[in-house]
Amino acid sequence: MPNDLSSPEAMSKPIVNRLVVIGLGLIGSSLAAAAREKGLANQVIGISRRTSTVEMALKMGIIDRGEASLTAIASELDAGDLLVIGVPTLAVSKVLQDCADLLSSEVTITDVASVKGSVIKAAMDVYGLVPRQLVPGHPIAGSEKSGVTAFNPHLFVDHRVILTPDTATGAHHLQRVTDIWSAVGATVTSMDVLEHDEILAATSHLPHFLAYSLVDTLASMGDNREIFRYAAGGFRDFTRIAASDPVMWRDIALANRESILVILDKVMGNFQEMRSAIDSGDQDYLMDVFTRARDARNNFGKILEQQALQGGIQSPMVEKTINYRVLPGGSARGDIRVPGDKSMSHRSIMLGSLADGLTEVTGFLEGEDSLATLQAFRDMGVIIEGPEKGRLAIHGVGLHGLKAPSKPLYLGNSGTSIRLLSGLLAGQAFDVELCGDASLSGRPMGRVAEPLRSMGAVIETAEGGRPPLKIKGGQMLHAIDYQMPMASAQVKSCVLLAGLYAQGTTSVIEPAPTRDHTERMLRGFGYQVSTDGSKASLGGGGQLSATRIDVPADISSSAFFMVAAAIVPGSDITLRHVGVNPTRVGVINILRQMGANIVLSNELDVGGEPVADVRVRYAPLKGITIPEDQVPLAIDEFPAIFIAAACAEGTTILSGAEELRVKESDRIQSMADGLVILGIDAQPTVDGICILGGQLGSGSVHSHDDHRIAMAFSIAALRASGEIIVLDCNNVGTSFPDFVGLAGQIGINLTSETMS
Ligand code: S3P
Repeated sequence: MPNDLSSPEAMSKPIVNRLVVIGLGLIGSSLAAAAREKGLANQVIGISRRTSTVEMALKMGIIDRGEASLTAIASELDAGDLLVIGVPTLAVSKVLQDCADLLSSEVTITDVASVKGSVIKAAMDVYGLVPRQLVPGHPIAGSEKSGVTAFNPHLFVDHRVILTPDTATGAHHLQRVTDIWSAVGATVTSMDVLEHDEILAATSHLPHFLAYSLVDTLASMGDNREIFRYAAGGFRDFTRIAASDPVMWRDIALANRESILVILDKVMGNFQEMRSAIDSGDQDYLMDVFTRARDARNNFGKILEQQALQGGIQSPMVEKTINYRVLPGGSARGDIRVPGDKSMSHRSIMLGSLADGLTEVTGFLEGEDSLATLQAFRDMGVIIEGPEKGRLAIHGVGLHGLKAPSKPLYLGNSGTSIRLLSGLLAGQAFDVELCGDASLSGRPMGRVAEPLRSMGAVIETAEGGRPPLKIKGGQMLHAIDYQMPMASAQVKSCVLLAGLYAQGTTSVIEPAPTRDHTERMLRGFGYQVSTDGSKASLGGGGQLSATRIDVPADISSSAFFMVAAAIVPGSDITLRHVGVNPTRVGVINILRQMGANIVLSNELDVGGEPVADVRVRYAPLKGITIPEDQVPLAIDEFPAIFIAAACAEGTTILSGAEELRVKESDRIQSMADGLVILGIDAQPTVDGICILGGQLGSGSVHSHDDHRIAMAFSIAALRASGEIIVLDCNNVGTSFPDFVGLAGQIGINLTSETMS
């Protein structure tokens, strides 16, 4: 995996004494020009065999001094100098030979070739080992234009430079190269040589060869002027890169031969399949490929928007930190609908995929968590069209139609995805691995692994029962009666989903009511689920029939605006079409008990789920002891409720909520820390918190990478005495993609700031 190397110190100047660039092509001359413009070297020296190139570089102010060969200056160079090899890939070996013959071992050497394995091999051939002074590098920047006249000192700004240092590479050499690239505006990462060459073969080299080949094929067909005259935008876009430098691409093709052949063979195999499908009129094959590719491209397009890469397509994303700055004095007024319910969105994908037939979903939450579930099912061969403004069409494959994914399923930040999936994957015929981001990788999975094992599943977890989960396929599951030790809808759902594949009747008994969307939605798909008090049961071996699902607005997202209206005098907000399932309305019950003015209207039943419009107007709040039976019914809303408590008169006491400690962050501690920073007396306890209402002050609080903590502190600013900065709000996108937009719409003064 790539590592980020960029450091802010890199901006001090000059970074090197002499910068010597051998080869004044687009990359070499652009780097020289950028270094000279920014004063990153005491002297910038350009070397090119062509006198005209050197003269041009001097005339255009790209370099301070020009030479025809390294021999002319090699003896002057020493520690503190940096030599950049900017020649085509296959010529690197010859330059390295000159370096070995002429250069002090103190001079740092780097290169810019697009293939790194061949550079390492050349170094081994010349030096017998990889010298400490060599830092192989590859700036992912370029254009179809080449040569010194195409130079652009801003070419590397916001582009990636990948370094592939060897274990032998000296730390100060690596630092010097990192610093110079960072100082010209690039983001520097490091990667293993083989990984680099494989990724680039697939994402950069192959597209060039396809473009060259297509243009050449068409150009050799009869009167090609006619063909090109009628060629539309698609052809132009696809073949733009066929205007690139032939020498460079010849060298890349030969230098990265092995990785390129692997991916070329794959594509040629797929071409053959496509040819047969077209020949035999196989519509399904074509739909499968086109839908999958379109969705992958759309997803990739979103990544590209964030990266603004050009010249070479790159896979690892440049992750930027998002902070929120919220000013006091805002309001909470308006009439809005927040995005779809996260729990139901996950379940719509899961059950829609396992059903027979086409399931259409509206109101689907296009947040990162539910998209992770969606991607996991695509990875298991399910065709899912959309999402397009919350609409999906899921081509269900039946309970036994999933295919083995080719790689571990990555579930990002989403606890619901990993826990529910572990249940329904325990009964599949294939092996599968489930993993996620740093937060998810720290969350307990023993709670699902244990009951599944007692059903006969074979599951391995990492140390301490954490992800990744490795599930062995082909097991015969048998039904159990499971007495859940904690009130968890994820565990209940996991066991019930495994029960679909088990012999006999699986039952789960919960210690307190938890959200019952799985049970309700299964019934919507025509599957029989019985409930008897705290016990939910289903038999294995049935079948799900496709249906339509209308996902209501998420009460958990609505909760932030309910609290916003409840704490600011003059507020009046209506939240439309909110899911008000009795197992989710703890937040309304608790806020009402604190004195909030909340009115429900337009109450409907939509596909077995109660929905209503929720109007909240300001009324003074008072502290309460939160009834423990409300805890599971408001489990995700406590960060928002704690803000209400901070604005209430008197003390609010919460107990029986130890589950909050194992959410996306330890929500008791995260909230207590932030509230204390803002001047509120908040005392965490083992299973809850004690909050004394008071005046919220200003300050910087940390979200602990937890979406709900970030949103809770954003609304706190409404009643604060000054500005609140909420750090690290990237994860808000997991559950509430347009939080910033809707917050602004109702009158909260929130700006989102992106930091490099
Ligand atoms: C969820 C259940 C809850 C909740 C989570 C979503 C679900 O988790 O906190 O955000 O969709 O089933 P637990 O089951 O761990 O309480």
